[in-house]
Amino acid sequence: MENFEFYVPTKIVFGKKTEEKIGEILKKDGIKKVLLVYGREAIKKIGLYDRVVDSLKEAGIEFVEHSGVKPNPVLSHTREGIKKAKEHQVSAVLAVGGGSVIDEGKVIAIGAKTEKDIWKFFKREEVIEDALPIYTILTLAATGSEMNGFAVITNEETKEKLNISSVYIFPRVSILNPELTYTVSPQYQAYAAVDAIAHIIEFYFTCKVCPNLQNRIAESLIKNIIETTEIILKEPNNYQARAEFMWAATLALNGLTRTGVGGGLFPNHMIAHALGGIYDLPHGACLSIVIPAWMDWYKDKNRVQFERFAKEIFGVSTVDKGIEMFKNWFSKIGAPVSLKEVNIEESEIPTIVENAYNIAKIWKIENIYTKEILEDILKRAV
Ligand code: NZQ
Ligand code: ZN
Repeated sequence: MENFEFYVPTKIVFGKKTEEKIGEILKKDGIKKVLLVYGREAIKKIGLYDRVVDSLKEAGIEFVEHSGVKPNPVLSHTREGIKKAKEHQVSAVLAVGGGSVIDEGKVIAIGAKTEKDIWKFFKREEVIEDALPIYTILTLAATGSEMNGFAVITNEETKEKLNISSVYIFPRVSILNPELTYTVSPQYQAYAAVDAIAHIIEFYFTCKVCPNLQNRIAESLIKNIIETTEIILKEPNNYQARAEFMWAATLALNGLTRTGVGGGLFPNHMIAHALGGIYDLPHGACLSIVIPAWMDWYKDKNRVQFERFAKEIFGVSTVDKGIEMFKNWFSKIGAPVSLKEVNIEESEIPTIVENAYNIAKIWKIENIYTKEILEDILKRAV
């Protein structure tokens, strides 16, 4: 096992009705006024908005609202949130929603504490040095944002979808009530499953030492995500399945699976972010298109892991059969597996390559992911 540091300063409050505790949690932490960040309609439709507001009022917490965060949150809306946070001098951000809401909330938390242009952090031109405390109530289990130090924002002018990573944006407390996810649509549940599995396999396949412990944690999480997704798609209100899926998705990207593995790149996400940035497609849908193509391109570079994956996850003995079954499972749950399925023509590949290569440069992996290689991978996804 390689040397590693593992630091996750987020408290998880998990279970039924836990959202009702938010006011008390903030009060205990000495927070007096929050920016309440949320999306478009989901939290009002499920009655969560009212419960959160009641809890805040009961605890005497003031709040200013920043709503309308869209999936694939954009820079302009984030900037509006930063302005609001500064004007009203809030002392924390409370993000209520899925990964998009939490990510935008995190970036607002950084922006509220600096006069620097927020986009410079995404371009790695400035270093994040502070942020307001972040609290979250999760309504869609997928990204792991509720227990990690990442955030992803799209600059809609340049079509760049970029990430930041900082210890300052780990949420202080995240509330996870599986019941809040009962209304997530089958389509988004499929994307969520793809995303959570993607977070695990990025490290699983690009590991250098690949210890047994981490392999087994990864395989166990993947199997659980597959099994619970199949139950959820048939029985959306199955608490046990929603609960296990929710916790598995959180553990998939809180640093646990990558401990000690050495290496560990995020190439599928790099290409998926290019697709998301250009076409504004759901993140999970971008990944289900990229992953089978990338696996086909990469399989000989870590064959042992691919053999393991085929055997452990799908009970088959060949690498190609494992990839095929994985791809078929994506199709089965309703996630696209080709560019064609989302109306992207082969002629658009050079544009996607340029965008992905820009991210490769920012991540300093352009020597591995050259334009030729990116093109090769994308051609396998036509
Ligand atoms: O628009 P509203 O009304 O808010 O509805 C949302 C949205 O339309 C809806 N939704 C959320 N909770 C619901 C619900 N609908 C019914 N019932 C509920 N309980 O779902 C739609 C999608 O929400 P979104 O937040 O966009 O989905 P997700 O959680 O998948 O987040 C995706 C974003 O996170 C980024 C992605 O790139 C993408 O921008 N990621 C963030 C990561 C991180 N911070 O660690 C890592 C990931 O790899 C990923 O890149
Ligand atoms: Zn992801």
